[in-house]
Formats: sequence, C-alpha cells, structure tokens
Amino acid sequence: MKLARNFFRPLAIGAPDPYRELPVTLERMIHFVPPHIEKVRAKVPELAKQVDVVLGNLEDAIPLESKLDARRGFIAMAKATDFGATALWTRINALNSPWMLDDVTEIMAEVGDKLDVVMVPKVEGPWDIHYCDQLLAQLEARHGVKKPVLIHAILETAEGVKNVDAIAAASPRMHGMSLGPADLAASRAMKTTRVGGGHPEYKVLADPAGDAPRAVAQQDLWHYTIAKMVDACAANGIKAFYGPFGDFSDDSACESQFRNAFLLGCAGAWSLHPSQIAIAKRVFSPDAGEVKFAARILEAMPDGSGAVMIDGKMQDDATWKQAKVIVDLARRVAEKDPELARAYGF
Ligand code: GLV
Ligand code: MG
Repeated sequence: MKLARNFFRPLAIGAPDPYRELPVTLERMIHFVPPHIEKVRAKVPELAKQVDVVLGNLEDAIPLESKLDARRGFIAMAKATDFGATALWTRINALNSPWMLDDVTEIMAEVGDKLDVVMVPKVEGPWDIHYCDQLLAQLEARHGVKKPVLIHAILETAEGVKNVDAIAAASPRMHGMSLGPADLAASRAMKTTRVGGGHPEYKVLADPAGDAPRAVAQQDLWHYTIAKMVDACAANGIKAFYGPFGDFSDDSACESQFRNAFLLGCAGAWSLHPSQIAIAKRVFSPDAGEVKFAARILEAMPDGSGAVMIDGKMQDDATWKQAKVIVDLARRVAEKDPELARAYGF
C-alpha cells in the first residue's frame, strides 16, 4: 500500500498538486451532450447557463462511426464556449476500448485547462483509477495544465460494486461516483430491459387475508447499491450521484428515483433529456420548508450543542448537523438561483 505521505504527491514531475480538499461545487444535474452533432453543439452556450455541469459524452450511445467526430466535437465545443461557473466534464470510452487512450491524450492536449472532470465508465477496481490518475498527471505535466483534472467513476459492474470502497479511496483525484443502472443490470444478469427506475415485478405482497385482494408494494431495485455507494463516497469525502433514467415519457418515475437518491445522500443525477434538467433542479435543490426549519434549528442552537424543542420535535447535536447539511446546500443553490434564495429566506 502507498505510504500516507506520498498520497498527495503529484504523480508526474510538473503536474499540479492534487487537491487536499475538493472544490465546493453545485452539481445537481450532469447534463449529457452528444458532441458529434453540430446542431446540439450550437446550443451549448445557452445550455451552459441552465445546468450545473455540461458533459460531452464519448462512450455508449455514440455510434461507432461517430466516435472520432464526438471527440473532435467535444474539443471544438470546449474551445468555443465560455462555460462561466458551469463545469465541463467528458465521459471517455472504457479503458479496454480502442478509443480511450486517444480520448484522454487529445482532450488533455487541446483543452486540458478547461476540463474539470473525466468520467470513467465501467470502473472495476482501484487499479483502473490508478491508471487514469498516472496518465492524467503525465498529460497535465506535458501540457502545463494548472489545476488537477478530477476523476468520476461510473459504478456499473458487479466487480465495481464489490470494490466500491477501494475505488472511492483510490486517489485524491477522485471527484465522486455515479450509479450506472443499465450496465450494472447487465453485469449482474438482472432480468430487466430498462435504464434505471423500478420494475413492476420487483415487489412484496401483503399476507393473504381471506379473499380480500392483497396489497402490493413495489420495491426499489437500486436501494442497496445506492446506499453502498453513498457510504463509500461519504466515508472518503467524495460525492455520490444517481445516473441515468431512460424513460423520458415518465417524469414522475424519474422524479421519484432522483428524490430517493437525494434523500439517501446523493448530490445530483444525470440529465439525458432537456425535460430532466428541471426535474433534477427541483429534486436536488432542498425544499424551502425544510430549509426554513433547518435554519430554525441552527438559530436555536448557536454552538450546535445541547437539546431544544422546536414544534414538539427534539433537536440536539445530531439534528444540528443534519440541519447544517441542508442549509449549506441551500446557500450554494441560493448563490446560483435568486428565486430560490428568496424562497429560502436568505
Ligand atoms: C450508464 O452508463 C449506465 O450503464 O446506466
Ligand atoms: Mg453504462
């Protein structure tokens, strides 16, 4: 195992120092753009004003014959756009694909200084992160990139889920992780054909009571994995995200899947369709009523200790910490969104 004192050393001479603390950012939605389509690229400057993260997708969903155009399109889009405070990410092809090496080397050479995060698909274990970490450090050094480009892993194989703690702890370059329910379902031999969300047959039946119809409750296929991912990420000071929701005709199911992830600790989700931007914004910005109640807890316990009653509910050091999570997030949202700032009473 690497010595603790070496953990934060740059992996190449001339590469920037890794972050000791990650930059504090608002990432409610990671909006996927297919960069090989010129018409889509032309809308990116407008899009960048509406979302927290713009991601140029080079991996799945990009046709094989468009892989090179997607990479070149991403570079062109990165050069041509002023992203302001909006983050720029790319999802590169998988490590075992014929495109990954050129994805990383060309993008780092051309727009390494504009890139915030590289999303790495199908991460199986810490060895995949170590490889990307070393390669990015070499390219940062070669091209004089000033700040470290972070790594975001997609958790989408059974082996990855088994190794999730080690992946989260693999490098100070780790930004966070997203659940990839489509590839994960295939990897686990789950019997589904969906991209995220529930399944009507994954359910629990109430006990029989004579001839009365039995109540049925559909269960969440992803609860176990999201909870495991959130623990691995939180324990290592990085962020967890819900990934894609593929049924664009079912906004309610998308919202409910996103909300479960938010309540369990996730910071955001992917938006694959423009309609999902508003859903993610609604879900991953805390509710105004909750924010106001949390602010009352902080006010009632200025030093965060002791116990008080508010509206008949006991508050102590632990609820103070929960309240702080909500108020801190609300403040980040408020900086970006004057309407929500007013709703929060800031
Ligand atoms: C995302 O990449 C997924 O496989 O769900
Ligand atoms: Mg996938």
